[in-house]
Amino acid sequence: FEIISHKNIDSTNTYAYNLGKLGKKNKIVVSETQNRGKGRLDRSWFSKKGGIYFSVLIGIEDIGKLEKINFLGSLCIIETLKSFSDQKFEIKWPNDVLFENKKICGILTELNVSKGYLVLGIGLNINNEIDPEIKNIATSLKEIENVEFNVDLILKKFIDIFVKNLKIDDELLLESYKKCSKTLFNDVNLIMHEKTVTGKVVDISYDGIHIDTGKIVEVFNVGDCIHLR
Ligand code: BTN
Repeated sequence: FEIISHKNIDSTNTYAYNLGKLGKKNKIVVSETQNRGKGRLDRSWFSKKGGIYFSVLIGIEDIGKLEKINFLGSLCIIETLKSFSDQKFEIKWPNDVLFENKKICGILTELNVSKGYLVLGIGLNINNEIDPEIKNIATSLKEIENVEFNVDLILKKFIDIFVKNLKIDDELLLESYKKCSKTLFNDVNLIMHEKTVTGKVVDISYDGIHIDTGKIVEVFNVGDCIHLR
């Protein structure tokens, strides 16, 4: 991967997506801050200095099964965090990384099927201040460990781990993901555009989240998952 570094851009995802349109691949776009950081479900992403904001531009053929990307991204983040902290990090489906129910990392994957590439965008709270508006739902590595971290070192570690795991077996990836899942076996509300479903998560697969609503088990592959305990 070639690393393209910026001080400030709109969004590393948008930048990487546009590079993809030009036929480029195997790039990592990183920026110290973003003016218009994008989150999942049309939200925005606070991108103040001290965090890590980057996007991996990669060919679909290098991932294999497309559904792997979210699991791979969040799992590699957990493995990266583990080499800087002894705390327990967990994944909220599909790909939020949490510490004690507070979000430390968010992932936004954007796909261009016709051009055959995807962008894995990752926002990781490290030394950045958490905005007062989201203090109760978000945290940073600095807040957890009470020390400043070297963000370049953390990004480098992630890239090593990501490259090492790119060819990971589908089943092994899924098993490892489930071990880190906070959502599996939890009671949840899954909020979708048209409806909200409540139930217990009995399984997670590449097809989505399997929710037992009391009557039947249904599988969903989008939505905002709220843990009920
Ligand atoms: C989420 O909603 O949890 C996903 C947040 C993803 C944020 C990252 S920061 C780097 C990359 N560029 C963006 O505009 N978004 C992603």
